[in-house]
Order: sequence, then C-alpha cells, then structure tokens
Amino acid sequence: MAIGLKQGREVNRNMNEPTSEERMRVLHALAEGGFVAPGAEADALLRASSEGVGPIEELIAHRLHGKPLAWITGSMRFCGVRVSVDPGVFVPRPHTQALARRAVSLLPDVGIAVDLCTGSGAVAVVLGSAHPAATVVATDVDPVAVACARRNGVSAFVGNLDEPLSPSLRGRVDVMTAVVPYVPTEELHLLPRDALANEPRRALDGGRRGTTVLVRAAEAAARWLRPGGSALLELGGDQAGEVATTLADVGLSEIRVHRDGDGQDRAIEARRPGSPLWGDGRR
Ligand SMILES: C[S@@+](CC[C@H](N)C(=O)[O-])C[C@H]1O[C@@H](n2cnc3c(N)ncnc32)[C@H](O)[C@@H]1O
Repeated sequence: MAIGLKQGREVNRNMNEPTSEERMRVLHALAEGGFVAPGAEADALLRASSEGVGPIEELIAHRLHGKPLAWITGSMRFCGVRVSVDPGVFVPRPHTQALARRAVSLLPDVGIAVDLCTGSGAVAVVLGSAHPAATVVATDVDPVAVACARRNGVSAFVGNLDEPLSPSLRGRVDVMTAVVPYVPTEELHLLPRDALANEPRRALDGGRRGTTVLVRAAEAAARWLRPGGSALLELGGDQAGEVATTLADVGLSEIRVHRDGDGQDRAIEARRPGSPLWGDGRR
C-alpha cells in the first residue's frame, strides 16, 4: 500500500522531535516573554528537553523567570565547540569568540597558553581543541567555575589571577588570555536583567572604572610571557587607554586595540619584546 506524503512524514519523524505546532507554541511563549531571538531559544529548549534535561513546560518557565539559557540547557556552542555551563557560572558571550579565535592564531601547535579568569573554560576549550598538542592551563577564583572548566576538560586551578600557576611556566607562556570582570560598578545596573539577577557579581564587577582586575591581569602577563609571547585581554568602553598604559609600563610592546564591527573597543593585545629562544624543539 502506498503511503501518502503526510503519513510518510509522520512515520519517519523521530519520536523525540518536536512537531512544528509544538515549536510554534514554545516560540510564541518566548516572544511574548520579550525574548529577542525566540526561534533560536525555542530550538535550544526543545533540543534540551528531547535530550532529557526536563519537560519543556518546566524549561520554558525557567527561561521566562530569567534563568540564563545555557544554565537551563546545560551547554552552549562557542566557536563551534560545545561547552558545558553550570548554573552559577558566567555564560560566555558571543563577542568573546573573536578573542578566542585570535588567541588560537597566536598559539603555536605545541605552545603554552594560560587563560586567566576562565569561568566555564570556554576560551581554554577552544584553544585546546584547535591545538590538541598545546599545554593549556586556566585559573579562576571561583571553585564552581573551576569545577565547570574541569568538566570541560580544562586543566584549571582555583585562585587569584596568576597565583595558582606553576612557577615552571614563568617566562614560557606563548599566549595569555583574560576575560576578567570589567563592568564599572556604577554601570552594573545597565546589564541585561538575566545577567544581573543571576550571574555572580565577582564575574561582572570590575571596580570603579572597570579596570581593577584588567590592570592586574596586564601586570601578570608580563611575569609569564616568553619573549615574543602575546597577551590578549578583553575590555570595553573607554578602558583601552588605561590598560595600554599599564601594558607599556610593565614592558610589553606592539600594543593594539581590537574593535568589533560597530567600532567598539573589545580587546587589547600586546607582545613581550624579544625573540623566542626555543630549547624544547618548538618552531
Ligand atoms: C567575565 S567572567 C569571564 C569568564 C570566561 N573567561 C568567559 O569568557 O566566559 C570573569 C571570571 O573571572 C573570575 N574572576 C573574578 N576575579 C578573579 C580573580 N581575581 N582571579 C581569578 N578569577 C577571577 C570570575 O569568577 C569569572 O568566572
């Protein structure tokens, strides 16, 4: 007996796959809740539900109450790599992918990278997946973040900035990345409602001008980079001038600011002067 097209689709449909009506229902609930990308969010919630994270109604309710999407689904894609993001851990921002890609391009295949303030470990995960033979080490002051980064396969340590790093890495690091908290305290209220209500304040608050931890990260870079090694620090607003001054003061050079498509300062890069003196067979 010939099966009609509609009937055939029904037969072939995966039992866990949402129907288009179900998708529209979730999408409408999110659109009415004011979400700007309801289609993408609906798909992520439906996928998570079909993977057993929880009943879809429960996941929608969490989202409508402002819980970050990645905490509900348990993961997100960052530079094309799936990264687990545990509840309580800063959700990596899409614009940070540009910094991660730049870091990938600066890291030699068997090089050494350090990611300070790693959070979920997203930047470190991308570095490790692009350079599987490289050594990638990360730190974060928050034990919940470090546990999450380790679950993502990152060699992560709890502690303040560079304090947990092994002294054996001093002067040998090819790339040091840091996405530190850099929102000025007085501008915290301008953050999206979800971020402010849920993410830990120490992941966001960068002090009076937002540069308190940034400046310390710039100083740390000078202690660990090898000659020719690079620092990449994310920043925002008008912070580039102060951070550039610190980078120059600690002896780094070739300082350049990276801007996004809207012309906003997004990161600063600097190099430790000198050429690498490989003693370990690296090119
Ligand atoms: C803005 S989040 C960035 C996380 C991650 N790099 C990312 O892009 O998703 C900043 C992170 O820095 C951590 N942090 C804040 N102060 C720190 C410090 N003094 N030393 C190490 N980590 C710190 C926070 O716990 C948080 O995970």
